[in-house]
Amino acid sequence: MAKEILIGRQDILARVEKLAQEVSADYAGKEPILIGILNGVVFFFADLVMRITIPCKIDFIRAASYGSGTASSGTVKFIKDVEIPVQGQDLLIVEDIVDTGLTLDRIVRSLKEKDPASTRICALIDKRERREQSVTIDYCGFEVEQGFLVGYGLDYDEQYRNLPDIYVLK
Ligand code: IMP
Ligand code: MG
Repeated sequence: MAKEILIGRQDILARVEKLAQEVSADYAGKEPILIGILNGVVFFFADLVMRITIPCKIDFIRAASYGSGTASSGTVKFIKDVEIPVQGQDLLIVEDIVDTGLTLDRIVRSLKEKDPASTRICALIDKRERREQSVTIDYCGFEVEQGFLVGYGLDYDEQYRNLPDIYVLK
C-alpha cells in the first residue's frame, strides 16, 4: 500500500522530549505509574519514559478495539490488565493514537474503578476526525485531522510498526 511521510523521527523525538519535560515538571515530588497501552505505544513509551527525569514506575494494558483494517469495531476487549496495585497512585495512561476515543474511555473508566489518586492521559497523536467519545488528553504530541497513520508502533493489519517515522497510508 502507498504511504507518505507525515512526521519524521527527529520531529517525533523533539516533541517527545518536550512531553517528557512537562510530565517531569508536573509530577515533581510524586512517583507516577506510567501505563502504556500495548502494542502500538511501545516505541513512543520507551522514548518518553527514558526522558522522564523523576522516579516513576511502568506497567501495561493490552486492549483491542480493532480487528484487521482501519475501522473501529466500537467494542473494546481487555487482554492484559495492570499488575502494579494502582489504588492511591498517580496514573499517567500513555496511548499511541486516539481516534474514536472509545478505547481510551473504556480504559480510563476501568482504571478509575481501582481508586487511583489521579488519572491523566498522554497521547502521541490526537486524531479528531472520528471522535465519538470525548476524552481529555492532558499531554498531546501531535494533532492530526484525518488519515490512517502507520509507523513508530502504529500498524495497519500488524504491518509497518517497525518504521522509525510516521506515515499516512494513501
Ligand atoms: P479508538 O478507540 O477509535 O480511539 O482507537 C484507538 C486505537 O485504534 C489506537 O490505540 C490504535 O491502536 C488504533 N488506531 C486508531 N487510528 C489509527 C491509525 O490511524 N493508525 C493505526 N492505528 C490506529
Ligand atoms: Mg493502540
